[in-house]
Amino acid sequence: MDSIVVTGNGPLKGQIPIAGAKNACLTLMPATLLSEEPLTLTNAPRLSDIKTMSALLASFGAEVSSLQDGKVLAMSSHNIDNHVADYEIVRKMRASNLVLGPLLARLGHAIVSLPGGCAIGARPMDLHIEALEALGAEIELKEGYLHAKAPKGLKGAVHELRFASVGATENTIMAATLAKGTTVLKNAAREPEIVDLVECLRKMGAQIEGEGTSTVTIEGVDRLHGATHPVVTDRIELGTYMLAPAIAGGEVELLGGRMDLLGAFCEKLDAAGIDVRETENGLMVARRGDAIKAVDVVTEVYPGFPTDLQAQMMALMCTAEGTSVLEERIFENRFMHAPELIRMGAQIDVHGGVAKVTGVKRLKGAPVMATDLRASVSLILAGLAAEGETVVSRVYHVDRGYEHVVAKFAGVGAQIERVKE
Ligand code: UD1
Repeated sequence: MDSIVVTGNGPLKGQIPIAGAKNACLTLMPATLLSEEPLTLTNAPRLSDIKTMSALLASFGAEVSSLQDGKVLAMSSHNIDNHVADYEIVRKMRASNLVLGPLLARLGHAIVSLPGGCAIGARPMDLHIEALEALGAEIELKEGYLHAKAPKGLKGAVHELRFASVGATENTIMAATLAKGTTVLKNAAREPEIVDLVECLRKMGAQIEGEGTSTVTIEGVDRLHGATHPVVTDRIELGTYMLAPAIAGGEVELLGGRMDLLGAFCEKLDAAGIDVRETENGLMVARRGDAIKAVDVVTEVYPGFPTDLQAQMMALMCTAEGTSVLEERIFENRFMHAPELIRMGAQIDVHGGVAKVTGVKRLKGAPVMATDLRASVSLILAGLAAEGETVVSRVYHVDRGYEHVVAKFAGVGAQIERVKE
């Protein structure tokens, strides 16, 4: 298993290109199942999660070709001859559950493994099930698999999600595109990845209104056709690299960066003493003074502070002046990076969903272990601010969500390398 070795070496300078969003791409790819005609995605990120989704789609009989060094995904679901999403693939990645809505809408039946527990919490599927049942699906749980069918086809309905789940919103919207009649989804999630999905579905002929608000209305159509769609910028990769000059000092331009994708994250950076300004090509980020100020953070659904940037923000707070309180409200167990940061000299107390971080003058390099995708990159960020060498092991977590991570950090002057073990 490879490791990433980072040595804190002062301010960073230069540019980092931001890729297409992993989470958008993982919901756009299953949309291919909704049509017999080809769907092509451009600006796709080169990530292991994308390969996992490609393998899942291929297991149903879809053709997925990765072109232009992986930046273009050409998909065709002309022949779908299997409707079972196997546990061996689903267990690798929860986003596999996004095939449920499209398979059900296209074929009238689907069998999808439950994702099972994962490091950051239980992550059940109840909200997906309730919404699809409202559209007329019959869903049973048998031996770890959801058996879903819609013998009379899906029918539009008014449904309110009990919580604005991103995945449940995406599954319901995709299923409703081919349902009979009108679906009104209330308390829908508003994340930019959902807006991107709807823009793509509209190009495929879907009739949808209200994306980006909490009420999305979908008028079912008989069939969807082919389309080509560019994947939206990855706001989580963007936020992660914005924290690099915040932590290490210097000035970095994020190519393709967009302020409107970041919601509450930018306000928190400003309060911490980080300047962000728009440039012709993206966003320029620099520290305002020498010290980082402690700020409190509560993770919330979009446009609130994203849970997927909580670990990285904690890394920044480790060297801030004063004490900050980080509250995780989206996932039940998402502070596994805290004990690793403590190994680097951070002062963190975790009680339930609340972490109190008291800044220290300097972190110290240490061997640390990546426990999940975002936790892993928070350790790399902390390594940029640490004295000496930080060795991050289990970096396959990073490969799930950050393409060319070493090259991107090294491109702005970080001392970082990948070591094969
Ligand atoms: C998506 C993102 C993930 C991000 C999360 C929250 C993708 C591929 N992944 O995940 O990176 O961290 O949004 O912004 O887009 N829940 C239930 N029942 C359900 C569904 C969810 O209780 O049926 C709970 C989950 O356990 C979790 C919370 O709701 O605690 C948020 O989940 P959700 O918004 O569904 O996130 P995902 O779509 O899985």
